[in-house]
Amino acid sequence: MTKVLQVAIDGPASAGKSTVAKLVAKKFGYVYCDTGAMYRAITVAAIQAKVDLNNGLAVTQIAKDTKIKFTPGNPVQRVFIGDQEVTEAIRQPEVTNNVSTVAAIADVRQELVKHQQSIAAQGGIVMDGRDIGTTVLPTAEVKIFMIASAHERAVRRYQENIAKGIKTPLDKLQAEIELRDKKDSTRAVSPLKQASDAILLDTTKLDIDEVVEAISEIIIKKQDEL
Ligand code: DC
Repeated sequence: MTKVLQVAIDGPASAGKSTVAKLVAKKFGYVYCDTGAMYRAITVAAIQAKVDLNNGLAVTQIAKDTKIKFTPGNPVQRVFIGDQEVTEAIRQPEVTNNVSTVAAIADVRQELVKHQQSIAAQGGIVMDGRDIGTTVLPTAEVKIFMIASAHERAVRRYQENIAKGIKTPLDKLQAEIELRDKKDSTRAVSPLKQASDAILLDTTKLDIDEVVEAISEIIIKKQDEL
């Protein structure tokens, strides 16, 4: 019987992890979990509650009280906090520019990591984030660390925005991406870091299908080995 695996995909902001992870999950019939969406959902809940995002205790309480739920959707998974749909709200610039502050709170991470591990315990999983291979699923059979140049990531984000009718200068997007990389990689708790047993995948010159193919090959090879 084909072995069902845990697939951890980590990497910096806008490297295309979520798009690729979702496609890989579909291909193998695995559950997909976008952990960045969970940090974003807590950020939305905290902003709505008018809590100071630097107040770790208050934001942690929000993380404990907020029930995050995913349901299938196209092109993206739908995200809820309680009964409120926040699929679009979590992608607003105010959230994107503040989520690193929330993600740096150790107790918020502890809450979300518990939730992520319970989702992964259900079977085959593709989970994307920053600390999946290092902290959330340290025994995942497949670990990918996906990177692309900051310029290429800004170009991708620029094109996504244009498709949504939003025009943001490319250099502004690149500066935001670089700032987020810096915050995510230098925070004290679970910083963005390649796990020692992760495979580095540079997608700068690859399109989505090529990345999905590369990861699928890694999964199939692993399944054959086990
Ligand atoms: O992947 P994303 O842009 O949706 O992530 C949003 C933020 O959450 C980003 O600042 C990094 C953080 N994050 C994290 O610290 N750990 C994760 N497992 C996933 C995301």
